[in-house]
Amino acid sequence: MPDFKPVETLAPGEAAQELASLSDALARANRAYHTEDAPEISDAEYDALKRRNAEIEDHFSELKRPDSPSEQVGGALAEGFSKVRHEIRMLSLENAFSDSELRDFDDRVRRYLGLSAAAPLLYTAEPKIDGLSLSLRYENGVLVQAATRGDGAVGENVTQNALTVADIPRMLTGAPEVLEIRGEVYMSHADFAALNERQAAAGDRVFANPRNAAAGSLRQLDATITRSRPLRFFAYAWGVVSEPLAATQFDAIARIASLGFQTNPLTRLCNGPEEMLATYRDIEENRARLGYDIDGVVYKVNDLDYQRRLGFRSTTPRWALAHKFPAELAWTVLEAIDIQVGRTGALSPVARLTPVTVGGVVVSNATLHNEDYIAGLDSAGNPIREGKDIRIGDTVQVYRAGDVIPKVADVDLARRPDGTEPYHFPETCPQCGSPAIREPGDSVRRCTGGLICPAQATEKLKHFVSRGAFDIEGLGVKQIEMFFADDMLPVKTPADIFTLEARDKAQIAKLANRDGFGKRSAEKLFAAIDERRVIPLERFLFALGIRHLGEVAAKDLARHYHAWPALRSAIDAAQPAAIASLAADEAEAEERAAAAQAGRRAEISRARAAVRENVPAEAEAAWQELLSIDGVGTTLATSVVTTLAKGGHERAAVDDLVAQLREIEPPESRATESPVVGLTVVFTGTLEKMTRAEAKARAESLGAKVAGSVSAKTDLLVAGPGAGSKATKAAELGIRVIDEDGWLDLIGGA
Ligand code: IVH
Repeated sequence: MPDFKPVETLAPGEAAQELASLSDALARANRAYHTEDAPEISDAEYDALKRRNAEIEDHFSELKRPDSPSEQVGGALAEGFSKVRHEIRMLSLENAFSDSELRDFDDRVRRYLGLSAAAPLLYTAEPKIDGLSLSLRYENGVLVQAATRGDGAVGENVTQNALTVADIPRMLTGAPEVLEIRGEVYMSHADFAALNERQAAAGDRVFANPRNAAAGSLRQLDATITRSRPLRFFAYAWGVVSEPLAATQFDAIARIASLGFQTNPLTRLCNGPEEMLATYRDIEENRARLGYDIDGVVYKVNDLDYQRRLGFRSTTPRWALAHKFPAELAWTVLEAIDIQVGRTGALSPVARLTPVTVGGVVVSNATLHNEDYIAGLDSAGNPIREGKDIRIGDTVQVYRAGDVIPKVADVDLARRPDGTEPYHFPETCPQCGSPAIREPGDSVRRCTGGLICPAQATEKLKHFVSRGAFDIEGLGVKQIEMFFADDMLPVKTPADIFTLEARDKAQIAKLANRDGFGKRSAEKLFAAIDERRVIPLERFLFALGIRHLGEVAAKDLARHYHAWPALRSAIDAAQPAAIASLAADEAEAEERAAAAQAGRRAEISRARAAVRENVPAEAEAAWQELLSIDGVGTTLATSVVTTLAKGGHERAAVDDLVAQLREIEPPESRATESPVVGLTVVFTGTLEKMTRAEAKARAESLGAKVAGSVSAKTDLLVAGPGAGSKATKAAELGIRVIDEDGWLDLIGGA
């Protein structure tokens, strides 16, 4: 299984960083999978990354990124199709990988609905088809539109293509006036093999797996090509309907089948987790005989009124669960270990493997996490893989879960060749030769070269132009690498991006003479760069790529200081205090060690105070102001203040950049659409129209904070029958108290 550090042991900084890299990895995987139909990692890996992301977000909700992968479904749209906005968003499914996670799901559903463990609760169970989802809109029985899921909100209009698929009826009789059918387009194993044979014979592209073949075939701008590809369709859900289809999921699917759609014959009704698990085993046993790819079993609450009450989280329904089949494994040889250097200097070991097929994707690279992992240790220094280390030449087990970065999971010592040596992790940066050090408690070794290190400098630039940052159209990873290495028009710092046009004008060798750049594309790029001379403060701050400064923290800083000059002055003023704070950490560590050795109690506050004594009051005030901001802790504050310290490389680079910008805009104030946004609400007593969980989820989705007890910070108490001490206390504090109906009125049935 994937081997992540337990979430409880992550420092906030580490968590923020991991969220950033997960967001990158998932965005890359999504692009490869959805937009390019050419996956780079396995589904199991993809799921593992998604889960890890959710787990960290659960634990560090304040670090959740505005571009959080958990808020996103699917990938960006390909160019060429017109866009369709889904009237009801096309969602994704929560995943489970074990029996216990399925039982947890059932528990959660019961709790939410207020049902006892013994109450009958039916679910449907059906195969999870490994294809791509499609929405089909019928008006008066005629197919009028077919759309892919896209990003969930907007998909591609593929009506002409859908019309060529034999399983998709063009006309329905006896259907509701408006009916949107949702389901999966897929390709059978036999059709996939035959298609790839034809493609190869014609010298055309060969597809990695049936899913990619199906996606590539449906999303053809020329529908006659789609017609020549044998696509199939299973219906399993619906979107807009002008009248209800049935009272239960099972009956609705039966009704859809009676209208002429293919529905999956393995769909079963199950009463509770044990029957669901039996069906899962059944379907898993049948998997190889089905003739098409499935990657798990989907369970759905059968009662549609329950489904309505359960509702949705941001990207997944609460009433459904995808129970995935286990990840796939393969053995291959570790040929080499390369070290990649990231934006913040982290040295990441990458396994170069003899290519091997794992779950339909050829894998030749995999992550080895860090030096401890290679040595057979976890982050606490305990043995993993029974302490077996990993060496070049070893036969290793490669694991892919979902569809993301493969990892090396295990090593076969019996197949270790003679004469191998334990891997020695570099202590200098392979890119710039600077010392690479590990701070105490950090599992990652980092290059200390800063902007001097070409790897860090390019990674920083890539971050600078990325989506949540300056997001300059036409300036992506490829172009940054090209410009960084260019001798005529080099781009080494963010400011260089903004002087590109002026330098171009002064040169004889023009950008337009360069590979991949015509005159028009050069002009377009200059225009895109110019557009970004006006930038919101939070984006500007995030773009600087300072360690621990993610999008959320950037927003917090921007909201507090409003303008760059104010923040810059605060950074300068706070500098002596930040340095003293670092020195105090060191003094504390020394005091602890000394006390432990002498067998006495450590005098921590005295040790810290001694170092901080000489900090000027003004500096202390600026430092405390920084720390008073919600979401800003010492780790982040120290990182910002010391990275941007006067006289340093990074500060010079930022000042140069600012000189090139026209305006750094103040941040927008918080949105205030719902009547309860920002309010702290407490529920007490019995609620009759909803369970506590339901009430809480609804309130939170409307921007309210839900607290468990009444305090001076409470804005509103919703009290049902039997409300006790909380209602008394609220009355004492003069807090507004309403009943359940009052609450429903207030939120307007929202
Ligand atoms: S139900 C609101 N049922 O899996 C959720 N989805 O990972 C509606 N999928 O986007 C989806 N087989 O493309 C459902 N039997 C099935 C499915 C299924 C495959 C796909 C679907 C969905 C994705 C989520």
